[in-house]
Amino acid sequence: MTRVKPFAFAAILMFFGIGPYLPSQTGSRLAQAPAPEPQSPPIREQLLLDPGWKFSFGDAADPRNDFGYGTGELFAKAGGGAGAINVNFNDSSWRTVDLPHDWAVELDFVNAQDGTLTSHGYKPLGRQFPKTTVGWYRRAFFVPKTDENRRIALRFDGVYRDAIVWLNGHYLGRNMSGYSEFGFDVSDYIRYGQKNQIVVRIDASNAEGWFYEGAGIYRHVWLLKYDPVHVEDYGVFVHSQVTAGAAQVTAETAITNELDSTVTFDLQSDVMDEQGTRVGSSTLRGVRLEGSQHRTFQQQIAVAGPKLWSLDAPHMYKLVSQLLSQGKMRDRVETAFGIRTILLDKDRGFFLNGKPVKILGTCNHQDHAGVGSALPDRLQYYRIERLREMGSNAYRTSHNPPTRELLDACDKLGMLVMDENRLIGSSPEMIGQFEKLILRDRNHPSVIIWSLGNEESGIQNTDTGRRLAESLMRRQKQLDPTRFSTYAANNGNQYEGINQVVPVRGINYMTVTDIDKYRKDHPDQILLGSEEASTLCTRGIYANDKDRGYVSDYDANAPGWGARTEPVWKFYAARAWLAGLFIWTGFDYRGEPTPYRWPCISSHFGIMDTCGFPKNNFYYYQSWWTDKDVLHIYPHWNWKGKEGQPIDVWCQSNAETVELFLNGKSLGKQSMQPNSHLEWKVPYEPGILEARADRKGRTLTAKVETTGEPASIVVTPDRTSIRADGEDLSIVNITALDAQSREVPDAGNLLHFELSGNGSIIGVGNGDPSSHESDKYLTGTWQRSLFNGKCQVIVQSTREAGTIQFRATSPGLKDGIASIHAEAAEPRPYLKPFTPETVNNLARRGAKVQYKSAWDPRFAAAGADALIDGNLGGADYQDGLWQGFEKNDFEAVVDLGRVLTASQLRTDYLQDIEARIFLPTSVEYAVSTDGKEFKVVATVANDMPADKAGAFVKQFIAKLDGTQVRYIRVIAKNLGLCPPGHRQAGQPARLFIDEIVVQ
Ligand code: GAL
Repeated sequence: MTRVKPFAFAAILMFFGIGPYLPSQTGSRLAQAPAPEPQSPPIREQLLLDPGWKFSFGDAADPRNDFGYGTGELFAKAGGGAGAINVNFNDSSWRTVDLPHDWAVELDFVNAQDGTLTSHGYKPLGRQFPKTTVGWYRRAFFVPKTDENRRIALRFDGVYRDAIVWLNGHYLGRNMSGYSEFGFDVSDYIRYGQKNQIVVRIDASNAEGWFYEGAGIYRHVWLLKYDPVHVEDYGVFVHSQVTAGAAQVTAETAITNELDSTVTFDLQSDVMDEQGTRVGSSTLRGVRLEGSQHRTFQQQIAVAGPKLWSLDAPHMYKLVSQLLSQGKMRDRVETAFGIRTILLDKDRGFFLNGKPVKILGTCNHQDHAGVGSALPDRLQYYRIERLREMGSNAYRTSHNPPTRELLDACDKLGMLVMDENRLIGSSPEMIGQFEKLILRDRNHPSVIIWSLGNEESGIQNTDTGRRLAESLMRRQKQLDPTRFSTYAANNGNQYEGINQVVPVRGINYMTVTDIDKYRKDHPDQILLGSEEASTLCTRGIYANDKDRGYVSDYDANAPGWGARTEPVWKFYAARAWLAGLFIWTGFDYRGEPTPYRWPCISSHFGIMDTCGFPKNNFYYYQSWWTDKDVLHIYPHWNWKGKEGQPIDVWCQSNAETVELFLNGKSLGKQSMQPNSHLEWKVPYEPGILEARADRKGRTLTAKVETTGEPASIVVTPDRTSIRADGEDLSIVNITALDAQSREVPDAGNLLHFELSGNGSIIGVGNGDPSSHESDKYLTGTWQRSLFNGKCQVIVQSTREAGTIQFRATSPGLKDGIASIHAEAAEPRPYLKPFTPETVNNLARRGAKVQYKSAWDPRFAAAGADALIDGNLGGADYQDGLWQGFEKNDFEAVVDLGRVLTASQLRTDYLQDIEARIFLPTSVEYAVSTDGKEFKVVATVANDMPADKAGAFVKQFIAKLDGTQVRYIRVIAKNLGLCPPGHRQAGQPARLFIDEIVVQ
């Protein structure tokens, strides 16, 4: 018998499941889901491609472990992708991941001699770690035939980094930046009515920053569909002039005609308020665009009595742009914007809507505990909420373009933004990144200023630096004349180079700049503290500890270029001509463990830790940046063994006077000076340390108390009701209480977490900058230690409504439990993954195969599935198990257990006439949704000569294009007998199949 490689036995039945509107869960909801191809598709669709990617590490050093990448003639022929790039590559052994995904946060910490490793938080990325620095992602999806006349585009919101993208084996392009979004019009490459396969190879070997950056597709990916006559990507720019009681809104709309013929259309631009009421409109009628032409149109729209966007009332509007042609809507695009005025004045600082506002900002990187740089959208809001709670009103996206959702959060919650470019440069790629930043972000009312870059020490004092800055600013003015640019400079009083040409001088660090002198020397420049303080603190720690990597949580430590918090704010508060400042940083971030190295893996600069738990300086800022009553004393009062020793007690408050009491005894009353704090030295004695303060005629109190050992766990979800949309989060903060229900501030117990119901844990953290515990438990068994009494668990909803029960346990402690309600919610439109599945895999989830044909009893030994799945059951050809059917037609009915939308059915058969194995004469496919009424959808005849020699496999394909199926009947008609002329003519012919794969 001729030997045939196992793969050749594939008898494959493929289904293409699609579901922009379908949840991915099995069960009745799927069965009731609407057909995915409505009669008339929406005008424009934006479908999330986040769920269901396949992920595998490649290898940066060895092509054999990199799916052959780099060994073939990969770029020689169109569509010639081999290895993992090939459409039919079998990725079933790859891990399934949902985006956003950061693989770096999943890796163990590694200490090695490598500067990048330290700055990036000791995750093994880079040339020294080839096995964990290259990641491959694959995602299959379905596009119906009815989309053939639309434009289809892919958009990646952010991939870290050096991403190469293929679609259906075709190379689309390469994007180096880990922060700029990029996309492709893929209309020509799409296989309409079929499976499409995206493949992305990411190489995170090289770093862009000197801080944790993550790795992978860590932002959203989208599939966009629209008419060939459409509003261009980034094509809408809305800005406004405000006069007393009115706004003049200018809408600039770039439109492209990608047809060959001329089109005539009306462009209607409506301004809608938050209630959805149209408050202004303009229509350009009878606009003509020739084939392949594009033009930008300007419309003026008056809005009476506009509700201005402000920090406390961040009103938003929407511009709805519609293209109407011969009674048909060709495109409809919504652009969120705000109406507000901004002004930066060299003597009086910043003005929002004509009112002076001191910029009280923080600089931040983008990672958070538990998830690395892959933040679900809700976390952006959580972080901005924390910053607002502290009194901050501005955010610097140091040192890179942020996610779109961060800016949405700033728009909606009221937070000003300095939007920062990554690397300064004017080559097409570099200026392209800057352009993308502006085009993408210029409609956000929160964005008040662009930053060209940060601390470019190689060029900031040079003519090259000046020329680059001039080129970027020239481009900025073309794309957005409504804002200024700045640059974050750490070159002190230096005026040559970039500082000389930027209208707003960004000062990084008053310690390295004599700001008063700079102001005197350059009185016409607007001055802003682009980066200040860099104060070092570890939450809840009260002594520097080099070995463990902790810095005390008093306002006492800063690196050479930085400063303590209080002198910095006092300096800025005293000078109205300083528009404000951005503190380094709002939150701790991974990497840059200054002033230490290993075992420290996170920074100490944050006013909050990586979870967003406040350090003590939080209350300093809150005292002077808000009008809330603030009274906060520290340290904690658990100093067993230090009885009688003096403890430094600090108080952060905006009260006029504060009196301190230890166990009821007054330790003296002190007056608070503006922008200051108070201190006492208190000999330790267990008990209650209490502060009583007077503020504006009210009495405030605060206390710290000596606690016992932890006795119970308390879990506090930030929200107990979340949306069951598969994306929303509950951020569960956890503490331990003693037997008298007092929070134990130094508890360090290891906790375990369990979750049941429709949700999952996606990450854990505790803000400990030296913790090497994992933030991710891919096994599903989650745990984390408390760090100084706190940790955080991030819980995400599925797309099924219901109650999520969360439990935290620890030996000897009473469990902490919480119920989170996932309320029914419409998920954002998303494209269901199109995943190949064998019938065996489906069988595990309830699919059944009913064989109408008898089969060789030997198959039974290997299990019925082995009959149709040669890859399972350990059976192989040599064992003689693959004998197939003699004489009979093969007939089987597959019950998928749920309704899928099928675009194609495919079975593959072996022919090896030497071995009496023949292809079927034809294959009939019939489908049904109820298992009773079957409709024959195709009969595929064998067009191969019956006597073709050699062993080969032939596919029998039936195209369906979106038919609803639950039951599939396959009848493979056999030859019956070997045909005349065959050496065994008249003997029973055999039919070989071994596997059914469902897609
Ligand atoms: C600055 C730099 C930041 C960060 C900070 C730490 O000079 O711009 O990215 O490194 O120092 O203090």
